Amino acid sequence: MQKHGVKTAKYQNFYNYDDAVKYLDEVNYPVVVKASGLAAGKGVIIAQSYEEANTALKEMFIDKVFGDSGLEVVIEEFLVGVEASILSFTDSKVIVPFISAKDHKKIGDGETGLNTGGMGVIAPNPYVTPEVNQAFISDIMEPTLRGLQAENMDFAGVIFFGVMITDNGVYLLEYNMRMGDPETEAVLPLMKSDLLEIVNLAIDRKLSEARIEWNSGATCCVVLASGGYPEKFPTGIVINGIKDFHSDSCELFAAGVAKVGDDFVTSGGRVINIVGHGSNLDEARKIAYQELNKIQFAGAYCRQDIGIVN
Ligand code: GLY
Repeated sequence: MQKHGVKTAKYQNFYNYDDAVKYLDEVNYPVVVKASGLAAGKGVIIAQSYEEANTALKEMFIDKVFGDSGLEVVIEEFLVGVEASILSFTDSKVIVPFISAKDHKKIGDGETGLNTGGMGVIAPNPYVTPEVNQAFISDIMEPTLRGLQAENMDFAGVIFFGVMITDNGVYLLEYNMRMGDPETEAVLPLMKSDLLEIVNLAIDRKLSEARIEWNSGATCCVVLASGGYPEKFPTGIVINGIKDFHSDSCELFAAGVAKVGDDFVTSGGRVINIVGHGSNLDEARKIAYQELNKIQFAGAYCRQDIGIVN
C-alpha cells in the first residue's frame, strides 16, 4: 500500500524497543501497537497514551509476552470511522467495483462483544456517498490498479477492499482476494447482470467491456448462528423450516448446514443467511426479520439490529 500510494493508516515496523519508543514521540493518541506475528487475537493494543503504548512495547520486546510473535512490532495510526466492504473484479487492466456493503462484525447488538466473520450485511452501504465513492476510486482503487500493473501482476479475479470511511477521507484496511461472507449474499441478489459473464470477461482480460447492471432497492442479510458462536457451539441440531421456505422478496442461503438422512442439521457457527430485498433498507430489514421466523433450531441466535443506521 505504501509503495504504490494507496491511502492507508500511517505505520512503521520496529525490531527493537529503543527505536520503537523513540517513535512514540511522533504519533497521535490513541495509537495501535501490534505484535506482527500470530497472538491468538491478543496482540493488538489500542494505547490511549504514551504510557500505555510504552507498556505495550516493553511487554512485547522486553518481557516477550508474545514470544517470537512480538519480535516485530507495528505502530499504526488509529482510524475512527465506519467500515465499508467493496467487492470488485479485475483483469489487471481495469477494476470494476460492485455496489458497496456494510458488514456487522460483532456478535452483539450495537457492535458489542466478540468479533465474528460477520453477523449480517446491508447493501448498498448508506455511508458510501458519491463523495466517499470518488475518494475510494482516486485514493484506493486507481493506485491499486497502477500497483498491479507496475508489479507486472497479471491477475484476474476478485479484489475485496475493506475500507474505513473517516473525517479525513477513505483508508484501505485490507485486501482479500475472494468474495466476502456475508457480503456476497447481500450484494449478488442486487446484481441484474450475469455474474458468469463478468467472470468470463475477467478471464479473457476483456473486463473493460463489462456493463454491470444493478437492481434498485436494498438488501439486508441477517445471519442465524448457533448458540455459543463465536466461541464453543454444538452441531448436529435439527433445523426446521428450510424445506418449505419460500418467499418472493427473500432468499435463504444455507451456510453451516448439513443433510443427515432427511433432516437438515447445523454444522457450523453461522448457519443460515436470510436476505430480504426491499425498495429501501427499512423494507429490506423488515422482510429479513419477518422471514427469519420461519427457520427454527434450538439455540438459534441472531442480532436484532442489522441494518439499523444511526
Ligand atoms: N465478512 C468479512 C469477510 O468476508 O472478510
